[in-house]
Amino acid sequence: MKRVLSGMRPTGKLHLGNYLGALKNWVALQDEYQCFYFVADWHALTTEYENPKSIKEYTLEVAIDWLAAGLDPEKSIIFVQSWVKEHAELHLLFSMFTPVSWLERNPTYKEIRQELKHKDLATYGFLGYPVLQAADILIYKAHFVPVGVDQLPHLELTREIARRFNYLYGKCFPEPQAKLTETPKVPGVDGRKMSKSYDNAIYLADTPEEIWNKLRPMVTDTNRKRKTDPGDPEKCPVYDLHRAFVPGEVRKDIEESCRKASFGCIDCKRVLYKHMMEELGPVIEKRRKLEEERNTVLDILREGSKKAREVALATMEEVRKLTGFDL
Ligand code: TRP
Ligand code: SF4
Repeated sequence: MKRVLSGMRPTGKLHLGNYLGALKNWVALQDEYQCFYFVADWHALTTEYENPKSIKEYTLEVAIDWLAAGLDPEKSIIFVQSWVKEHAELHLLFSMFTPVSWLERNPTYKEIRQELKHKDLATYGFLGYPVLQAADILIYKAHFVPVGVDQLPHLELTREIARRFNYLYGKCFPEPQAKLTETPKVPGVDGRKMSKSYDNAIYLADTPEEIWNKLRPMVTDTNRKRKTDPGDPEKCPVYDLHRAFVPGEVRKDIEESCRKASFGCIDCKRVLYKHMMEELGPVIEKRRKLEEERNTVLDILREGSKKAREVALATMEEVRKLTGFDL
């Protein structure tokens, strides 16, 4: 089986944007690939170095979200980055031959620094973020990396680092490919992109009641002020959620009812809520149980990290030989 690897930074509980944009796809890949999924806690530290305690908390929360959504430790290796120290060793070796100019021209680096202007990100670690990411990926010789488009520059850099290593010390690493997830549009309750920082998100940790209380007042087609005004699903953020949860046949009826103003937005949201709960109900339920079994979750992460470490160590043996650190 070919290998898939991906990671998420533990900077908050997961919301529907994370679930629909990444996690659901990770779950689906488990049957076709040998999957490695890890909590990128060191990567979180690049931006959260002033408050590392939050990383500790969210590492567990994110793992709970993953397991609740269907990542299965029987199928996939689920682990924590900082529990496999070899990532740091490989990162250090890579840092010796990675030109600073490759890192400085990285568009993701420039964008995030711009976005997080209030934080001082003029650090060595933040500049080297993609070098650590290359180590994460290459240490498992992953073939595919499911990520969003924002991560493509990091994948390109990973391939460049792999090529440079192979050229300098001898063939060791395959060049991993991005597995682009088609990212659905997931608006938050205010109609903007769903994001923790906009305070508009629906979380997997929300109760069904909380979800309905967020959905009910959610922004719709702003031209539809009264129930008797016809609406346009194409201009409605709620309808983007229908696309993610409601089957096509049902959506046809909804579109018609909206355009003809034969039902109101609350009726429409009720239909959405029902379909959402068919999918999310069991996830929420499982999440609630896992919340009470934190030790089981920790054991899963420990066990996964042990398995990951075996693979990482085998690669490092090879790397140490090729680079002459095997005296
Ligand atoms: N940079 C990724 C993100 O922000 C997280 C990440 C860290 C990652 N290491 C990785 C993703 C390795 C894929 C593979 O989403
Ligand atoms: Fe949006 Fe539904 Fe209202 Fe139409 S009826 S505007 S799709 S919420």
